[in-house]
Amino acid sequence: MIGNAQKYTLAMNMKLEAVLIDSSVIQKRVEELACRVAMDYGNDPPLLLPVLTGSFMFVADLARKLPFDAPLHFVKVSSYGSSTTSSGNVVVSGLERIDVSNKRILIIEDIVDTGHTIKALLEQIKQKGPRDVKVMSLLDKPERRQVEVQADYVGFVVPNKFVVGYGLDCDEHFRCLKDIYTISEE
Ligand code: PRP
Repeated sequence: MIGNAQKYTLAMNMKLEAVLIDSSVIQKRVEELACRVAMDYGNDPPLLLPVLTGSFMFVADLARKLPFDAPLHFVKVSSYGSSTTSSGNVVVSGLERIDVSNKRILIIEDIVDTGHTIKALLEQIKQKGPRDVKVMSLLDKPERRQVEVQADYVGFVVPNKFVVGYGLDCDEHFRCLKDIYTISEE
């Protein structure tokens, strides 16, 4: 159902190829993930640490499905180097404004790709003495991994294709689609 997404194809020389994960499937999976978090954390909610920008839609849906009031703080992770792959030169901002010591932290990502982002973020958080840290990622693309990291909670394992929508972008386009698509050059 490309439908209302049609306008996005005009913005750049990439076009939506096919729906990879339909919004109804995404919502059902987010519900399941919220249940898992509720069971695992019980009466001791974690501090949600979503990574900007890609996770904004996922965390908004997830947080509203949680049965408890979890505190939330966005962080930004920037990679410098190639425009299409994380280089390993990763800078984290936002962590300096919160106290994570002795807290339970749940990092929320849209995708784990090469793994550099999560590896760097985990290292920096662990230096600050949290009680525990876990990672939830909506998508996991294991074929692209360059460093050994694994999210504790994964929504969907996806093939090695460029995917957009539901927060994920291509040069800042396509983020606001409710489904996840593969894209290709026009
Ligand atoms: C994307 C994505 C993850 C990261 C994963 O962020 O949102 O944070 O890349 O890649 P990696 O596993 O190879 O490190 P990006 O830097 O594109 O920023 P964005 O979320 O603002 O799109």
